[in-house]
Amino acid sequence: MADTPLRQHQIDYPDSAALQDVLAVLKGFPPLVFPGEVDELRTRLVAVSEGRAFILQGGDCVERFSDCTAERITDKIKILLQMSVVLTHAARMPVLRIGRIAGQYFKPRSQEFEQIQGRRVLTYRGDPVHRFDPRGDNRTPDPRRLLEGYFHAAATHNYIRAMIAGGFADLHHPLAWDLTSMEGTPQWQEYRHVVDRILEAISFMESFGGLNQESLGNIDFYTSHEALHLPWEEAMTRRDPATGNLYNLAAHTVWLGARTNGVDEGHVDYLRQIANPLGIKVGPEMTADHLAALLRLLDPQRTPGRITLITRLGADRVHTRLPELLRVTREEGNPVIWSCDPMHGNTVATTGGRKTRTFTAILQELEHTFGVHRVAGSIVNGVHFELTGDEVTECTGGAVPLGEADLDRNYESWCDPRLNYTQSMEMAFLLGKLLRE
Ligand code: PEP
Ligand code: CO
Repeated sequence: MADTPLRQHQIDYPDSAALQDVLAVLKGFPPLVFPGEVDELRTRLVAVSEGRAFILQGGDCVERFSDCTAERITDKIKILLQMSVVLTHAARMPVLRIGRIAGQYFKPRSQEFEQIQGRRVLTYRGDPVHRFDPRGDNRTPDPRRLLEGYFHAAATHNYIRAMIAGGFADLHHPLAWDLTSMEGTPQWQEYRHVVDRILEAISFMESFGGLNQESLGNIDFYTSHEALHLPWEEAMTRRDPATGNLYNLAAHTVWLGARTNGVDEGHVDYLRQIANPLGIKVGPEMTADHLAALLRLLDPQRTPGRITLITRLGADRVHTRLPELLRVTREEGNPVIWSCDPMHGNTVATTGGRKTRTFTAILQELEHTFGVHRVAGSIVNGVHFELTGDEVTECTGGAVPLGEADLDRNYESWCDPRLNYTQSMEMAFLLGKLLRE
């Protein structure tokens, strides 16, 4: 009998019979997305791999059940839509929006346990595992919470679909662009000018019917999350009777995290078997051989649109690590999409012990990544951010500068720090400049 591959960062459920019961129920629930939608995303990703479209992927580090409200979902879709319009305008090509949303619930953690008020408790792994509040036995994994995870993900998917079908994409309404927080900053005039030109372009196209309400309403939006909690991913994986292929139908695309990428391990073994487009996070420890092995396992047919390599090297390691990764990928011949996650390699702790990221380091990782690609004759096809549509205070810097002292004011994330609305819009303007160059 073949050995079962090692599964890293999984949850040890004390009641395994209860887990099996829950998984049986989950397997009977309808999927959250449809195989045809996954295939449609792959077709769009072919255009991305050929440099004819660009990816904007973003959302929370970890979604909480309490984020499943109309307002929070709206804010997140709105920021992604607005950023995508800025990027489309700058790059003169379609931008594919992929949310870290409607199922981005499970987290790998560097420490399995943490000490809170003198008690040793499991580190928070996500709302479908246990409660964040560490009191009592709240952090004991409870498999019934997976069912709540399903319903929260389903409600989020449903609301996103309803908003889009209902014509939420009302981007030409100037009120929807709330940049007042940037007023008075040195960058303000420049950004205002970009927005005015975009609004002008939209109304010009509308004036001769090139862009009517219908086509504005007809935007596409895809969902994604890290494929981490394998019992969940497997329960949501179904065989498509039409093609015989297996699909993860909890999201359109899922990615392999940087901590679970062992070639002989369970996550790679699972992802190998599904037909969804896959992301692979590529950290500074990834060797050329490791990347080549992953590409052979996960994309043996070298299919355009199958693999998005999401580099997250850290601003100061892009020059030393990226050239070799570009070289080995070219040698392997996989037609990959190159995306850049400028967040996860740039996390630092404040003196007070809060996790944060500086706007400067995030922007620098993007600039260095564009630069190294240019020298190598390659292109950046997308970006991957942790961001939110709310004015949180989690990352420092930006045009309306936040300092470390501001972080306590509205630090909401239960995991990594996100760009807030203003920082995200500014990042889109600056990224737009990089794309134009
Ligand atoms: C994440 O995207 O939230 C994450 C954990 O990233 P990485 O695997 O790249 O560290
Ligand atoms: Co994160």
